[in-house]
Amino acid sequence: MKKSVFTVSALALAVAGAAQAEPQAEVLHWWTSGGEAKSVAVLQEEFAAKGGTWTDMPVAGGGGDAAMQALRARVLSGNAPTAVQLKGPAIQEWYEEGVLADISDVADAQGWADVLPESIANHMKCEGTWCAAPVNVHRVDWIWANADVLESNGIEMPTTWDEFNAAAAKLQEAGIIPLAHGGQAWQDATVFEAVALGILGADGFRKAFVELDEEVLKSDEMVAVFDQMRLMRGYVDPNFPGRDWNLATAMVMNGEAAFQIMGDWAKGEFLAAGKAPGEDFLCASVPGEGFLYNVDSFAMFEVDGDDKQEGQALLAELIVGENFQEVFNLNKGSIPARTDVDLSAFDSCAITSSEDMAASSESGSLLPSYAHGMALRGAQSGAITDVVTSHFNSDMSSEEAVKQLAAAVVNSL
Ligand code: BGC
Repeated sequence: MKKSVFTVSALALAVAGAAQAEPQAEVLHWWTSGGEAKSVAVLQEEFAAKGGTWTDMPVAGGGGDAAMQALRARVLSGNAPTAVQLKGPAIQEWYEEGVLADISDVADAQGWADVLPESIANHMKCEGTWCAAPVNVHRVDWIWANADVLESNGIEMPTTWDEFNAAAAKLQEAGIIPLAHGGQAWQDATVFEAVALGILGADGFRKAFVELDEEVLKSDEMVAVFDQMRLMRGYVDPNFPGRDWNLATAMVMNGEAAFQIMGDWAKGEFLAAGKAPGEDFLCASVPGEGFLYNVDSFAMFEVDGDDKQEGQALLAELIVGENFQEVFNLNKGSIPARTDVDLSAFDSCAITSSEDMAASSESGSLLPSYAHGMALRGAQSGAITDVVTSHFNSDMSSEEAVKQLAAAVVNSL
């Protein structure tokens, strides 16, 4: 177990907002799109208002792969940033490297255990201590649509994959791109897990992508998941390789494409562009039962210096603060991680997300997103994504993909 880096007096001062040393923070994150930048600015402003100096270290690249590479380089050179956007089992992986600070003093003083659902709190703990601060709950299994495009083509939001396929065929005939997509491995994985949730069901998803059950990985249902992915490949435009996710969202906004399957950070883009849910764009969970969650969080890396440690304590306190959780999430498209934030200012997509999350938690279908690093350690999720992306970008058969999937998972263990 690691010793807390925060002295009681530093914590008390930071909590009171009157620190001796000026709080400093160098913050590594990957929030660089329009909606994301607006959201992270909320934290910067709150930090500055409390006397903190924020050094921004944005590393562009949706899903955070590039940010995680940058982090590795910084830690290896013995110069870790003070605060890092980090999530899922990667938090525990870094803790095992002995480089994370213990933020239990802040968590205890702020009563995090009373305001966070257990499922979220568990991700923030390392051997019983608090080692990360949660920002939000993003839902991954969403379909976004351009409302006018659907209406003028007589299409309803699909509730089964057959309906989705029928809508796509109709849109193609009308010369509209059915699916806005960016050919980046993490985006392929995002669509794949949404399809998998629908086809495998919540239990099948858990067995495949949480428990890595070989039977399910090799099952006929998994073949059906890849069959649907092959159809999805036919619904994207030829310019999809390498496209950033927010540019795909823009295609839905401007009516070039009808749908996007993406987490609700896409809603942050619609909102930042002044679009209204239910009028300009529609949101619906993908066909099938369940809720794939993706919790953004920040971990503090062990650093020397009172100013930096006070910056870490202040950041942790602000991140889980009620005001930040409301304002940040209104911009980001997600819902607060805290259960006691008033949702009256949130839109219908957020309310759906909150209600569905509660219902899924009850029914046992609340599941961690594998594509966004919540379900598995890096080696396993990377092995799965390699197969998903090489299937999507070739003419590999579904049977071959399933064979490779099972083998890749076994090899990664
Ligand atoms: C993060 C989101 C982010 C998205 C696109 C996800 O993995 O959780 O906060 O907006 O990637 O960059």
